[in-house]
Amino acid sequence: MLHVTFAPENLPQNGSLALLVAEGQDHSSLYKTLDDATGGAISRAAKADGFSGKEGRVTTILAPGAGLDRVVLVGVGAKDAFGAKEAENAGSLAASALLKAEKAAVAVAGLPHAAHVALGATLGAYHFGLYQSVPEDDKNRVLAKLDVLTSDVAQAEAAWSAQAAIARGVILTRDLVTEPANVLTPIEFAERITTLRNLGLDVEVLDRTAMEKLGFGALLGVAQGSENEPRTVVMRWNGGAKDEAPIAFIGKGVTFDCGGISIKPAAGMEEMKGDMAGAATVTGLMAALAGRKAQVNAVGIVGLVENMVSGNAQRPGDVVRSASGQTIEVLNTDAEGRLVLADILWYARERFAPKLMVDLATLTGAIVVSLGHEYAGLFSNNDALAADLTQAGEATGDLLWRMPMGKAYDALIKSDIADMKNIGGGRAGGSITAAQFLKRFVGETPWAHLDIAGTSWLAKGKHGQAQGATGFGVRLLNAFVQTRHEKA
Ligand code: BES
Ligand code: MN
Ligand code: ZN
Repeated sequence: MLHVTFAPENLPQNGSLALLVAEGQDHSSLYKTLDDATGGAISRAAKADGFSGKEGRVTTILAPGAGLDRVVLVGVGAKDAFGAKEAENAGSLAASALLKAEKAAVAVAGLPHAAHVALGATLGAYHFGLYQSVPEDDKNRVLAKLDVLTSDVAQAEAAWSAQAAIARGVILTRDLVTEPANVLTPIEFAERITTLRNLGLDVEVLDRTAMEKLGFGALLGVAQGSENEPRTVVMRWNGGAKDEAPIAFIGKGVTFDCGGISIKPAAGMEEMKGDMAGAATVTGLMAALAGRKAQVNAVGIVGLVENMVSGNAQRPGDVVRSASGQTIEVLNTDAEGRLVLADILWYARERFAPKLMVDLATLTGAIVVSLGHEYAGLFSNNDALAADLTQAGEATGDLLWRMPMGKAYDALIKSDIADMKNIGGGRAGGSITAAQFLKRFVGETPWAHLDIAGTSWLAKGKHGQAQGATGFGVRLLNAFVQTRHEKA
């Protein structure tokens, strides 16, 4: 992870400098100092490039003088609309523009939220380089160290300890999603979660035998075609009052989804290494909560399985019995995520009696058709919970769009021979029938389901967001916990 240090707003003598610039008349004093030191090169370049500080605009000036290699002007828009989210975006744009620099600084230049600028920069500088043999190579070099220049160093440093924990959580999520499925098997995933014990998390791993005893017939049906043994992992963070019921976060952790006997087409199948993004998000979130010592009781439970084809794989038409006792006719083995979640949701509710449950899953291709890669689908049996989550999404930029549920959709998963089937009639309303299926395992507990199939991975990068794993959901749920479930 990018090494961040905070320092006063003095003009650096060398290296590269990114400068945040608000839209409007008055320039920060650092801007003026820099402009003077470069004989007006900065304001001339800004004028030539039509740079006015508009949000998201970036202008790079090479060798402007004053000993600097480059100056990057990062527009942040109106000063009074500059909040934590805007600060993160600016930090991310700055880091992307400085990615190849050996020595770099970002000047917040009189604006607040320096720790959020640092968070954005840390995530913007993220690169998964584990399997690239020559990381020293110029092409692969990624910014390692960054000075964040601010007028209030002490305040920024104090705020950074929590933001750094969030950054580490998001990065953990991205790393897990990016790891290939031959490395990140269910057993390896569970191993990595156990290393979070050093943050003070309580981690418990359930193996196949334990899950058999618990009657996890739906999850184990999915796992049965794979040579890789399944695991369920329970993470607990007890930062709240002793007698307070926990909040539960549940993640789909299909380490690879080839579809099983209802096999997927070859094109794009490699993306199904990321079908454990829900579990990765829960893991990153729990690491963030523990890392910043959140004053809340939270439990994270992930169901880790691989959905493969073999002579022993689950067949279309098989009937399985879930931990809840409800039976399921598996008409399509590729609708496996809901089978995994069925047992985990039920287990979370029975064992922990949580005050609410949020599950995350790359559950359906249909949600990508509905919402593209901008919003994740939100399904809930509780309006207040849905509103809280939507608001946390707006605040962090991890956007949620609420989808409808109801009896008419539930009727579509009625089975002729079992309590339900695992797909709706056809493709119509595919993400909604999936959510209706999950709802049958949550009882009266306030519950929300986030379908992150379109937002956990970007095949192509977009402005301010690189190609690959996004870590979607960690900042969202951290903010949800912080603003709704922690004492101020
Ligand atoms: N993991 C997939 C959903 C998915 C698709 C995630 C694209 C990310 C990108 C899920 O297990 C799946 O295969 N769903 C099926 C359900 C269908 C068989 C009812 C789908 O969406 O096609
Ligand atoms: Mn599938
Ligand atoms: Zn899947």
